[in-house]
Amino acid sequence: KQIALIGAPLEEGSGRRGAAMGPTALRIAGIDTTLAELGHGVTDEGDLRPLPARDLANHPRANNLQVVAAFTRALDAAVFDAAEAGRFPLVLGGDHALSMGSVSGMARHAAKAGRPLFVLWLDAHADFNSPATSPSGNMHGMPVAFFCGEAEFAPILEKGRPLVDPKNVFQVGIRSVDAREREEIAEHGVNVYDMRAVDETGMAHIMHEILGRIRAENGLLHVSFDVDFLDPDLAPGVGTTVPGGATFREAHLIMEMLCDSGLVSSLDLVELNPFLDDRGKSARILVELTASLFGRRILDRPTRSA
Ligand code: ARG
Ligand code: MN
Ligand code: MN
Ligand code: MN
Repeated sequence: KQIALIGAPLEEGSGRRGAAMGPTALRIAGIDTTLAELGHGVTDEGDLRPLPARDLANHPRANNLQVVAAFTRALDAAVFDAAEAGRFPLVLGGDHALSMGSVSGMARHAAKAGRPLFVLWLDAHADFNSPATSPSGNMHGMPVAFFCGEAEFAPILEKGRPLVDPKNVFQVGIRSVDAREREEIAEHGVNVYDMRAVDETGMAHIMHEILGRIRAENGLLHVSFDVDFLDPDLAPGVGTTVPGGATFREAHLIMEMLCDSGLVSSLDLVELNPFLDDRGKSARILVELTASLFGRRILDRPTRSA
């Protein structure tokens, strides 16, 4: 594969500082050389540095809207351009608000190719709030509602842009959902596999189900990986830890099954906060998991299909 690394040092979508150091930590942990050693062509496009979107009015329930909107616009363009050029966009975050832009860019790319876009959302949180429903006003809790067209409160991107069908969104690892958010995801038919589902049916079964649907519809798949998907013991470098997350083995299995499927077209690595990390541990695990997604194997055999 030809991989485009796109740094998005956004932290204004979260309630605290630190995620802006995420792209640097991922580079120090060796994301580029690791992918190159697996035989891929890697181009690092560096970090986006967009100016705040001063055309938008501040919003009392969408914190730091101008900065988040600027990154959204820049990422929508950068991710679309990379995908159109036949490269695999890999976004180095940055907080999860950046997925407003990365997924919107892939939605445009998929629409142009006449294929449906699916999103695999690996996260402790559903991130389906809007300014009207968010308890915090932090925009990293809003990206899924945004790219599904359910948070159209300001002209951040072009009206009439391609959206993602909420029924094409698969959320795995969920274990912290706000009251209004729970109603919204049910109403819009988002596919949620919470940690109880993971415990009851197992990650392999869940992934077979998801990948089978995407394959049947000839879809493109965007994967959005929030560090807090993982258990905090494993990955402490994130501002919104929730106990009871995915294990090292579960996360690797997902990545290996995604690799075998050949369906993944783009990836976000988000919410890494090196200021909260333990000697680079979380950054290193993210790089290891990314390696599994791009072809590294524990054992020299592919995962068997069900
Ligand atoms: N649901 C909470 C909120 O809206 C937390 C969101 C956490 N999101 C994240 N990407 N870490 O504020
Ligand atoms: Mn998230
Ligand atoms: Mn989260
Ligand atoms: Mn709604």
